[in-house]
Amino acid sequence: MAQHKIGIVGGDGIGPDVIAEGLKVIDAAGVSFERVDYDLGGQRYLRDGTVLPDEILEEWRGLDAIYLGAVGAPGVPPGVIERGLLLKMRFELDLYVNIRPFTAPGHDFIVVRENTEGTYAGEGGFLRKGTPHEIATQGSVNTRMGAERAIRFAFDLAGGRDKHVTLVHKTNVLTFSGDLWQRAFDDVAAEHEGFETAYNHVDAACIYFVESPQRYDVIVTDNLFGDILTDLGGAVSGGVGLAASANLNPARTGPSMFEPVHGSAPDIAGQNKANPIAAIHSGAMMLDFLGETGAAAKIEAACKANAEMIGSTTEIGDAVAAAVAD
Ligand code: IPM
Ligand code: MN
Repeated sequence: MAQHKIGIVGGDGIGPDVIAEGLKVIDAAGVSFERVDYDLGGQRYLRDGTVLPDEILEEWRGLDAIYLGAVGAPGVPPGVIERGLLLKMRFELDLYVNIRPFTAPGHDFIVVRENTEGTYAGEGGFLRKGTPHEIATQGSVNTRMGAERAIRFAFDLAGGRDKHVTLVHKTNVLTFSGDLWQRAFDDVAAEHEGFETAYNHVDAACIYFVESPQRYDVIVTDNLFGDILTDLGGAVSGGVGLAASANLNPARTGPSMFEPVHGSAPDIAGQNKANPIAAIHSGAMMLDFLGETGAAAKIEAACKANAEMIGSTTEIGDAVAAAVAD
């Protein structure tokens, strides 16, 4: 009997290629689930204008998880799919933290990215658009509740690790939002005896990611800093083809969503070239969140063991599946 009902959005470009490998590995790990496929993304939009209908969103509320490859296709105006599908999903399903772990020799840290606020919230607009006096603003929305719940999640996570939490922000310039984040961080830290804390400005954190990543255990940061830092995290720890992520609704009032950090890479779509490790590892994070901890640990170990494998998408998927089935 399938215990989990999982929505699958392969999406665009290499998305379906890497998700196929993730599903292969989950199968090899012996986890059964009911699969519901959704044809969504840039290609679907170009075909019939569909992005994310409310009926589908409502249906998703009844799922246990969503497993997503990548969305985005050439020819779709910027923002249509990003805001209309991915961010709508994160906001509507209240996926308020985006967890991105990085493990490689000398690297073992997790970024907890706030996932529903900041500059991503969509506050702002144009005045006098298209004229020489045009104005565009894009505000950053920071609620005490939103920052605090991400920070609390980071401390909980660090509790099962090295009990070290670093806040990354830009408090020396963003004196309003940075101040709110710093106070929320300090208040939560004061409740956590035995934890070590640190603060880095985001620009300095970029240097440390490259030069001394071993200083980090759990990092908590806002939405945009987290977006940028996690691409850098991928680049310094084996490549973005290895970087997995979990968009979590920790309160479990709906499904959480699991996706690799990388994009749809349309130039190599369907060529059996994309590294599926990030997608496979994201699948392991999904199983872990669903309580399939044994299978998740096995897949994660197999991803680590095959992190440096050179091969086609299906060869790497097969190697991980074989390691998991042993
Ligand atoms: C990511 C992506 C998304 C983001 C885009 C596609 C909206 O870059 O998941 O990191 O900016 O969050
Ligand atoms: Mn990104």
